[in-house]
Amino acid sequence: MIEKELWHPVALAGELAGAPLAVRLLGEDLVLWRDGEGAVHAWADRCPHRGAKLSLGRVVEGEGGPQLECPYHGWRFESVGRCAHVPALPSFVPPATNRATTHAACESGGLVWVRIDAPATGAASPPVFAAEHDPGMRKIDCGPYDVETSAPRLVENFLDMAHFGFVHEGWLGARDMAVIDDYRVEPTPNGLLATGCKAWQPQSTVNSTAPAQVEYTYEVTAPYTAVLTKVPDAASVGIDDYRESIALYICPMGAERSRVWFRFATSDFARDEASVRSFQDTIFLQDKPVLESQSPKRVPLDLRAELHTVADKASSLYRRHLKSRGITFGVC
Ligand code: FES
Ligand code: CO
Repeated sequence: MIEKELWHPVALAGELAGAPLAVRLLGEDLVLWRDGEGAVHAWADRCPHRGAKLSLGRVVEGEGGPQLECPYHGWRFESVGRCAHVPALPSFVPPATNRATTHAACESGGLVWVRIDAPATGAASPPVFAAEHDPGMRKIDCGPYDVETSAPRLVENFLDMAHFGFVHEGWLGARDMAVIDDYRVEPTPNGLLATGCKAWQPQSTVNSTAPAQVEYTYEVTAPYTAVLTKVPDAASVGIDDYRESIALYICPMGAERSRVWFRFATSDFARDEASVRSFQDTIFLQDKPVLESQSPKRVPLDLRAELHTVADKASSLYRRHLKSRGITFGVC
């Protein structure tokens, strides 16, 4: 499965402190833990001895460094996964083959990322969010939001402007202002780029003081990751050179179950974080029931299975991209 060779976000980096953390990715249970140097580890959440969940165990200091201790019989595993200690037989030296199943893990953009299988070709990194390295943009994490739908349905919702006047009426749109002017969309090596997308929005951002014509750019940067950049007309926010960019990060927990975070980047350093989160919660909780009502929950890659108009050309191209990448998880 090609999805297993991609990096996926599984938790906010700040969630992972002293205790191991259970997460789910691509239908598999994983345990995350952090060693004394702060490095993150992601293993199958299953002890190779008798199958207990390692996430119920604890991180302990061993001879060669921190170790993960199984909750059942106390076997201890080094950060590379090797079993170092069996308490029932203290003088027994476990063979090197006694080990937990380990996966690649790293931190990027405020999240912990995991790659279940080493890729057949090349060692790609987690997708890049340009605003991450821009000191003029402050970053605020919103979520997690757990949603009973597939990751591709979430990406399509993020790319979709035609729902603003209905799902987000009075906020991101109005039903009598729902016209979508033509926009440009083009494939990129990692997904697609849509530019020149315009919407009339009563309350475009948490900073809005008046309705505005807003110009959006969307970029799909990995099969389940997208970024939008919003440029509202300056007068409507009352902040010079206001810029805002949002990364959509999705953990495909199951084919029809996802965990979502928004990494919100803004040039406004004054606004309190709580109001930014509250705005994002309001918008996303408007999307959630509609997303969970879609049938099928997986996105059909046969373009004849659903109807499309020219206003949907970003999502049509997204479907073609998933098909060309050989994506099988969350699609049908
Ligand atoms: Fe983990 Fe026995 S099941 S130590
Ligand atoms: Co929406």
